[in-house]
Order: sequence, then structure tokens, then C-alpha cells
Amino acid sequence: MKLFIVENYDEMTKLTYDIIEKVVKSKENPVISMTTGGTPEGLFEMMVNEDNKDNLDLSNTVVMNLDEYIGPKDAPYSVNRYMNERLYNKLKKQPKEKLLINGDPDKIEESIEEYKKLLDQNKRDIQILGLGTNGHIGANEPGTKFDSSIFLAHHEDSTIESTMKQYNIERSEAPDKMITLGFKEILEAEQVILMASGKSKAEAISKTIKGEITEEVPASYLKDKDNVIIIIDQEAASLLF
Ligand code: F6R
Repeated sequence: MKLFIVENYDEMTKLTYDIIEKVVKSKENPVISMTTGGTPEGLFEMMVNEDNKDNLDLSNTVVMNLDEYIGPKDAPYSVNRYMNERLYNKLKKQPKEKLLINGDPDKIEESIEEYKKLLDQNKRDIQILGLGTNGHIGANEPGTKFDSSIFLAHHEDSTIESTMKQYNIERSEAPDKMITLGFKEILEAEQVILMASGKSKAEAISKTIKGEITEEVPASYLKDKDNVIIIIDQEAASLLF
């Protein structure tokens, strides 16, 4: 694992963007897999700006996702909607393919099988991750086995609360399940980039980096892996030293 501690959110975003840009510009058929939530908002904004200025061309790139909530495709919290609103609808040039997970509650098993096939057909160059305040990655919540493989996950309360906050919705409207890549698929990407910013992530970062590797802190599983890059800002790093 490589650890980069940068000044602030914008620098975390820029460093992550630069890695994506390099892959998109240097590979013939790049595959990048994104996460959603608050952490990558600046990253999507930067990708859109660079596309609009003709500096980034995703037309040779397959874009995938880490997870999808179980619920309607157009629900305020859906990854599908997030990707359309923050990226796809704003791009001048669309990616070669946009491979989203189907969160239809009646098709969970089929969706998992379908996405497994897509993952097999599209070897990811980059997997972007955010970090839950409880140390989760994707929806691999504390207690998830380290051999997890794309599955239907149930959220912890802290995760449901952050979804409510992020999308300004009531608990009754908030999703409590999602299909998520497991540790297996996450680590199959050539480069795995975990981003974390702000004081609310400091404890999870400290447990991840200074603590033992334990299923109670899912992100801790990443730290002895050669293909993992952790990019955090000063606030997220504030409990490390
Ligand atoms: C979202 C996801 C989650 C988030 C994590 C951090 O697709 O997979 O694991 O990355 O909950 O969320 P934010 O960035 O909103 O703090």
C-alpha cells in the first residue's frame, strides 16, 4: 500500500483525477470503476470540466461502479441516478460503455450474475473507493468476511444515516441494502484507490492504518496489498500521528 497525505479535499481530488487521467490517456481500452457518495463529488466535477475543455476523452473508456442500492432506478439515492446527474448527463463525449448494476429488488440474483460476467469481461485498471466512518468499503460493513464476492449487503445504522444526510431523505425512504463488489472483486483491479477527507473519517483512517487487520475494520484488509493507494487529507490523517 502507498499512502499519500495531502493538504485538503481539493488536493485529494486532484491527485486521484491525475491517476485516472493517466490511465485513460495511456491505455488502449481503459476500464475505471467509480464509487459514489460525498467523497468523489469533486472528482466527478473535475472529470466533467476536463471533458468539457476537451482535455479528457472517455470515449475509449468503460466506466463501471462499485455498488448499487436496492430500489427504483430513479430513486434520489440510486447510483444510477447519481452517475447520470453528476457525470454522464454533463459530458460532451460519453464513455465507450456505462456498466451499472441493476438494483431492481425483484432481480437481485440475476443482477449479481450479470455484473459478475461484466467484471470478468472488463478487467479494471482502477477501482475508486470511499471510506465509511465505520471503516466500510463499498457496502462491505464491519464483520464482512475478507473473502466476500459481489453480494447483497445490509447496511449498518451509521451507513443508513449518512445516506439520509447525503440525499436529504427520511429514514423510511432510505435504502438499507445494496449490491456491492466484495473484497475479492475490489482487489482484482490493477490499482485500488481509497479516498478519505475530513475529520469524520479520522478515526476510521487511524484504525485502518495503525490498527490490526481485522474484519471489524473492513478497510484494514487493504493495507498490506501492493495494488492499493490511500489518498487522504490532513483532517482525515489527524489521528495518525
Ligand atoms: C458509495 C460507497 C460507500 C461510500 C462511503 C463513504 O458508493 O460505496 O462505501 O464510499 O460510505 O461515503 P461518503 O463519501 O459519502 O463519505
